[in-house]
Formats: sequence, structure tokens, C-alpha cells
Amino acid sequence: MQIHVADHPLISHKLTTLRDVNTDSPTFRRLADELVTLLAYEATRDVRTEPVQVQTPVALAQGVKLTSPKPLVVPILRAGLGMLEGMQRLLPTAEVGFLGMIRNEETLEASTYAERLPDDLSGRQCYVLDPMLATGGTLSAAIAFLVQRGAAHITAVCLLAAPEGIARVEADLADVSIPVLLVTAGLDEKLNEVGYIVPGLGDAGDRLYGVV
Ligand code: URA
Repeated sequence: MQIHVADHPLISHKLTTLRDVNTDSPTFRRLADELVTLLAYEATRDVRTEPVQVQTPVALAQGVKLTSPKPLVVPILRAGLGMLEGMQRLLPTAEVGFLGMIRNEETLEASTYAERLPDDLSGRQCYVLDPMLATGGTLSAAIAFLVQRGAAHITAVCLLAAPEGIARVEADLADVSIPVLLVTAGLDEKLNEVGYIVPGLGDAGDRLYGVV
């Protein structure tokens, strides 16, 4: 897996406010949205395009347009939903599929409880949205799901990642032959004993949507 930690000062600034325990939910949602748009810019560096010609008011110009099939954006429910608009701002024509995955807080293993994705992802570039790459169980399962449906290229966009999660995803993907990229705003120190990223930002879903 190729890893890109986006260390732009605006990204670091927004991430710092997201981490702050005193940041309220409306501010957290707005900043997460802005941060994802900045990450999306980095994450779409390899988005496929094809040459196209347009007529300007002055002359013909050579340009590009996104190729078909369109990219597929896959937010992991629930917290990944808070990243969807930020991603769609840059990729408004992308299709959106949904994966509902939940982490068992005792075993820390992920299981799928909902899925709305095309059956055939052959040739598709997929962008998985999951704010926290912690133990890696959820992201690993999500990537395996997309690979099994034929995805050609997968980019995971995460606000934060932990070294343990990256190691787990890399180990689980050892046999995966398609390119997989991780774009994140920060690589933190470690996980704590209950699987939270340290220093992290707490429970991303709760901070976006409250404790339910
Ligand atoms: N999920 C979160 O929301 N936060 C963490 O720190 C780890 C997993």
C-alpha cells in the first residue's frame, strides 16, 4: 500500500482543531468537510482522464475529461458519511456506494451490516472514506470487499491513521495485486488498550453525530 501523509499547513491547522476536545459537533462537521476536500485534492491525483478538445471563444484547446466508468466513492457508515460531501465537492460526477461496517468493541473485528454497491466493479477507481484507520479491521474488510467485486484501483481517504492499522491492512492485502493508496491528514503515535488512536480525536462518529 502506498501511503501519502498530506502535510499542508491548512490541513494541519484544521486537524488540530478537530482534535481539540472543546470543538463542538457543528464545528467538527464543518472542519471535517473542509479537510476532506483538501485530502480529496491529493487523493485524486491519479484519477483517470482522457484527452478531449474544446472550442474556447478564441481557438481550439486540448484538455481532459474524467473517463468512464466514473469513479466510485464509498463512505463507510456511519462516520464515513461525514466525509462524503467534502469528496463530492471535487468529484461531483462520481457515483456513490455505501458499506455499513461496525467494529465489535470487544474483539475490535469489523463486520458488514449493510451494502449498496454495484455487483461489478471491473475497471473502477474506488475512493473509500473512513475517518479513522485504527486497528485496520474495517478498512481491510472494505478493501477486500471491493477487490472481490473487481475494483481496479482503491484509494482510502482517512483523517487519521495509526501505525498498527497500516501494518494490519498491509498484511491483509499481501495477496492483492491492484494498486492501493492511503491518503491521510496525520499518522499518529499508536492505539490505546481499547483501540482508540492516540492522540487521535476520539470517536469520529460520536463527534460528528453525537452518541447514539
Ligand atoms: N474509531 C474512532 O472513531 N476513533 C478512534 O480513535 C478509533 C476508531
